[in-house]
Amino acid sequence: MRATLPVPPLRCSDGPPKTPPSPNPRLAGPKDLPAMLELETLCFDRARRDSREVLRRSLRHPRHEVWVIDFDRRAGEGLAAALVIRPAGAATLRLHSVATHPDCRGRGLGKALLLLAERRASETGRRRLTLEADAGRPDLLDWYEREGFRRKRRLPDYYGPGRDAWRLSRAPAGSA
Ligand SMILES: CC(C)(COP(=O)(O)OP(=O)(O)OC[C@H]1O[C@@H](n2cnc3c(N)ncnc32)[C@H](O)[C@@H]1OP(=O)(O)O)[C@@H](O)C(=O)NCCC(=O)NCCS
Repeated sequence: MRATLPVPPLRCSDGPPKTPPSPNPRLAGPKDLPAMLELETLCFDRARRDSREVLRRSLRHPRHEVWVIDFDRRAGEGLAAALVIRPAGAATLRLHSVATHPDCRGRGLGKALLLLAERRASETGRRRLTLEADAGRPDLLDWYEREGFRRKRRLPDYYGPGRDAWRLSRAPAGSA
């Protein structure tokens, strides 16, 4: 049986706007799988969700990186945000997934994860970051464009019949 915590865990909605709970991403491990699945369910529709197996593989894969932001400093209270990055050849780092818990959006956690991906691209000598985003989500495409990504190619039916994606890319800051 789970012990009752003396103090309820800090939720994002408790903090003042724009103050992330702990914008301190850490590398995830196998024990984070249940919380990753929960975040996935909250953030993506069925067609876009990663399965338990795909998430498990990312968590174990030696060249995939799964970064997470905890709701508070005690791991085990759930995840506020997560980023999955994978190498795509020698020159490119692909953002497989970025997600922020609905209670925590608009507080800079997504931006913090994009900056982290950029840092990892620079540290691993990659010249490009890429990702795919739903072509039917102008808000999301605008956000990525504000973060420096540019539309490269429209991918018909990427998420299923009639659900196109855009491939977006950008160079890490400071690269030629
Ligand atoms: C896309 C996503 C990761 C952004 O995460 P986030 O932590 O809200 O990101 P940020 O706070 O850094 O930036 C969000 C932007 O929306 C604005 N915003 C304001 N209120 C907001 C709200 N209630 N919800 C979302 N965004 C809000 C923010 O101010 C910010 O704008 P800015 O860039 O001009 O500052 C998040 O919305 C999400 O998980 N969506 C569902 C999953 C998804 O579609 N992922 C992308 C896969 S390609």
